[in-house]
Amino acid sequence: MRLLVSGGAGFMGSHFIKYILAKYPDYTVVNFDKLTYAGNLENLREVENNPHYKFVQGDICDREALEKVISENKIEAIVNYAAETHVDRSIMDPDAFLRTEIFGSFNLLEATKKFNLTKMVQVSTDEVYGSIEDGSFSEESSFSPNSPYAAAKAGADHLCRAYFVTYKTPVVVTHSCNFYGTNQFPEKLIPYFITNLIEGKKVPLYGDGKAVREWIHTSDHCRAIDVLLHKAAPGEVYNIGTGKELENIEITKMILSEMGLGEDMIEPVKDRPGHDRRYSIDCSKLSRDFGWKPEKDFATGLKETIEWYKANADWWQPLKSGEHLDYFRKQYTDKA
Ligand code: TYD
Repeated sequence: MRLLVSGGAGFMGSHFIKYILAKYPDYTVVNFDKLTYAGNLENLREVENNPHYKFVQGDICDREALEKVISENKIEAIVNYAAETHVDRSIMDPDAFLRTEIFGSFNLLEATKKFNLTKMVQVSTDEVYGSIEDGSFSEESSFSPNSPYAAAKAGADHLCRAYFVTYKTPVVVTHSCNFYGTNQFPEKLIPYFITNLIEGKKVPLYGDGKAVREWIHTSDHCRAIDVLLHKAAPGEVYNIGTGKELENIEITKMILSEMGLGEDMIEPVKDRPGHDRRYSIDCSKLSRDFGWKPEKDFATGLKETIEWYKANADWWQPLKSGEHLDYFRKQYTDKA
C-alpha cells in the first residue's frame, strides 16, 4: 500500500508511521506535515533513511500541494493525524483549529474523492461528544462539543459523514480517548507534569483535579488504526478507548510517587474555562468487529513514559522554553 500520513511529524502520527513501516516493510509511507510547533522530525530519526519513507513539508489547507503529493506518489489511502490538538490553545486562539481541522479535512476528503483513494481514516477525539456524568458515549451518541478544539473536530467529523452519505467517499472516523506515551509535546497533562517535575517545578492542577479522562497508550492506538485502515467498512465510525478512567489528581499522584516526590509539588490553579468534567467512550464495537483489545497496562505505560522523558531532556527542553508555551499557559498559572 502507498499511504499518506498527514500530520505524520507530530506525536501520534510519528508513532503510527514507525509502527506501519516496521509491520509492513513493503508499504510506502509519505509523511505530509506542515511542521507547526508540535511537528518534529526528530520523532522520525529512526526511519528517515528508510527507502519506503518520504517526508514532504506541506499544509493540508493548501489543496494544490496536497493534490501534488498524492498524485506524484500514487497514494492509495490517507490517515489524517493533522490537527491542532491542545484545548488550552484553542481557548486562547481558535483560528488555526478551525482552518486545519475543518478546511484541512475538507481538502483531504476532496482529494480522496478526486483520486479514488481506497480509504481515508480520520483520527478524531472523544471530546466531540462532550462531557458525560455517568455511562459512556457510543458511536451513535450525538455531538456536544464544548471547546473550540472539540467543535472544530466535530465539524470535520460531520463533513466526513456528509461525504460518505453524499458521494460514498470511503472515509472511516475514529473517536479516541486521551493518548499518552513517548514524544508527546510537553504541554499536555502527562508530559507537562513529568517534565515540570524533572525541572524541579510544581505541577498546575486545574480546579479540584477531579476531572476524569480515559487513557490509551500510543501502541494500542496504532494497532487500532491499523485494523481500521485495513478492515473497516467505508462510512463507519469507531470509538477507540480502554475503559481506563482516571481523575487528574490520581494520575498526578501516580507520577509523583513514581518520581519519588511528595504532594507538596502540586499547585492547585484556576479551572480551565468550559472544562469538561468527564470523558468516557464505549469501544465495544471495535472489539466486537475486529477483536481489538488494549494491551498496555496504564501503570507500566506511565512508568515507561516517565523513564523516556528522564532520558530525553534533549528532546523536550528546547520545546518547553518556547515563548508560545508560556503565552498560552500564563492565564492558568494564577493560584486558585
Ligand atoms: P490535556 O492533556 O490538555 O488533554 P484534554 O484537555 O484534551 O483532555 O488535559 C487533560 C486533563 O488534565 C484535563 O482535564 C485538564 C487537566 N490539566 C491540568 O489539570 N493541568 C494542566 O496543566 C494541563 C495541561 C491539563
